Amino acid sequence: MADGVAAGAVAAVSEARLWQRLMEMAAIGGFVGDGGHHGVNRPCLTPLDRQARRLLISWAGRMGASVSVDPAGNLFLRLEGEDPALAPVLTGSHMDTQPQGGRFDGIYGVLAGLEAIEAIATAGVRPKRAIEVVAWTNEEGGRFAPGCTGSMSFSGFKPMSAFDDLVDRDGIRYADALAEQMAAEADLPRRPLGYTPHAYLEPHIEQGPRLEAEAKEIGVVTGIQGSRWFTVTIEGRTDHAGTTPLALRRDAVQDMIRAVGALNALMHDPADVLRFTVASIRVEPDTSNSVARRAVFTIDFRHPDKAVLLARGDAIAGVVQAAMTRCAATVHERFHALPVDFGETVPNAVEAAAAAQGLAALRMPSGAFHDAQFMVPVCPTGMIFIPCRGGVSHHPSEYAEPVACANGARVLAEALLTLANG
Ligand code: GLV
Ligand code: MN
Ligand code: MN
Repeated sequence: MADGVAAGAVAAVSEARLWQRLMEMAAIGGFVGDGGHHGVNRPCLTPLDRQARRLLISWAGRMGASVSVDPAGNLFLRLEGEDPALAPVLTGSHMDTQPQGGRFDGIYGVLAGLEAIEAIATAGVRPKRAIEVVAWTNEEGGRFAPGCTGSMSFSGFKPMSAFDDLVDRDGIRYADALAEQMAAEADLPRRPLGYTPHAYLEPHIEQGPRLEAEAKEIGVVTGIQGSRWFTVTIEGRTDHAGTTPLALRRDAVQDMIRAVGALNALMHDPADVLRFTVASIRVEPDTSNSVARRAVFTIDFRHPDKAVLLARGDAIAGVVQAAMTRCAATVHERFHALPVDFGETVPNAVEAAAAAQGLAALRMPSGAFHDAQFMVPVCPTGMIFIPCRGGVSHHPSEYAEPVACANGARVLAEALLTLANG
């Protein structure tokens, strides 16, 4: 068990309250998917997102946290510390979901953060530094790609304006959607963009199978692998499928298949460490009896080794070009995040908290990217993972046990206190 002041805060974490809030949030954008699983589709900067934020704000207000929003739409809940002049410790995650998302990815980190500060306040503990819970704007990139635009803006990784012209599938600009949200939340106090927290600690479901398979209760995350996202557009010519001889065609789908085959060879990795995904394939015209004039697909490429990430990622455009026979291709890179190492400060605080609470912990890297990736250059950073069933995520069947959610919040509360008193 935790000792000293932390023990009271840890004991005040309520598994029932956290679970109830997770389920209430899951109803906002909730749907019943394949197999009867309860999924969530809550894209960023939408009325559903705003409804979820209002619910979060109502809970935060009840426990005495102050609320503010920065120009990137990031939402902050602050538990004041003994010395308001000291840099706060920051925790949290995101509230948006994938289109076919689950009930835990992102929102768990925000609600675990709220649970931790509520428990600290309930126990009458006053940390030296303030603790802030953040809900980052657009982590998923499901509506506006790339994701992590809120944390990239906050950290200065990119200027906010870099995202203005992103468009969703309906042609709505990111800048317009953000302006609409800011207007709808005009009653919320504003704060400037960015600051240097004392530390950042993000709780999240693991989104992979290791903790469950190895019967561990807490993942002490050591870093995040690098990610690069590309969009490939192949332009050919449309023709009648019944009449045009194959030799005369400029079929975008056929050249796309060649490109994907060549990319699979480029990305071949017998060790199965590399992650390479082709998805979001769109064809125009999208009809079975016309030759496609245009084919567009996305690439999501990840690797923990910077050298591999750079070398193979840089080779993508050349490989696609070499695969073209009749069509022309353009390759656009839209997201580039190098691997990060969390160092020792925050992971050690997480590991010590788990040990003090008698929870079995595992040091592990993250395969998924997170807002934490962009906080590494700003301040000591880390993450807490909790197990999720079968390692499934980005799917309605995503599930974390109530006790696992509470364990993560208890470790978070204790680690936050360690950091906030440091
Ligand atoms: C985050 O959602 C990721 O795709 O890793
Ligand atoms: Mn997430
Ligand atoms: Mn996700």
